[in-house]
Amino acid sequence: MRIDKLLANEGYGSRKEVKQLLKQGAVRQNDHVIKNGKTHVDPVNENITVFGEQVTYKPFVYFMLHKPAGVITATEDSRDETVLDLLDPLDQLREPFPVGRLDKDTEGLLLITNDGKLAHQLLSPKKNIGKTYYARIDGKVTKADVDAFQQGVQLDDGYVTKPAELEVINSDEESEIYVTITEGKYHQVKRMFAAVDKYVRYLKRVSMGDWHLDDQLEKGEYRELDEQEVYYLKHLEAKK
Ligand code: URA
Repeated sequence: MRIDKLLANEGYGSRKEVKQLLKQGAVRQNDHVIKNGKTHVDPVNENITVFGEQVTYKPFVYFMLHKPAGVITATEDSRDETVLDLLDPLDQLREPFPVGRLDKDTEGLLLITNDGKLAHQLLSPKKNIGKTYYARIDGKVTKADVDAFQQGVQLDDGYVTKPAELEVINSDEESEIYVTITEGKYHQVKRMFAAVDKYVRYLKRVSMGDWHLDDQLEKGEYRELDEQEVYYLKHLEAKK
């Protein structure tokens, strides 16, 4: 890849700043100073340094975002703010995308990465990874609803969902619940409650498998995952 792209990707500054570094003679490819931004380098097999410090190459980036309500889960949109707009421009350089979809009014855990293989794994119905949501529901959520979810409910288009685990935290005029689903149909949680004549007033994804939203992250904040967390994500298994 081109040295200017590599350095911009790795956070050495904007294209302009990177050009300046090159011009200064700060950048070396196996001990040879390179000044031309178009020079092709192999960051895996060559020793690329800036002021003597080795440039490590991370082809993939992984971010955990606490999605706020009001932004859409897309890479671009002409009207609405997207989840990618919440990332620092430098973090957008490697063209990450959101894994799965949360509705505009849904909050909570969202993975943003450019690792297509991991995205595919996490979304694959075969993997059966449970996604857990906290929700506030109008009215009393009952044992009958818990049983119906356990059986699978019929959505408005006739599709019968896979079994879902519904845990009632408190049930009153407004109920609080956790629900875990293993599929990702459009508006699935809202449509499942609609199937039992109930309305979801607030929805927040709190975990995917045993991977939980970091409670240090305020709405709209995100952070990069460390290597251990990425390893963990890659080995997330469905609950047996
Ligand atoms: N189910 C929904 O209805 N909405 C979401 O955003 C996620 C799951």
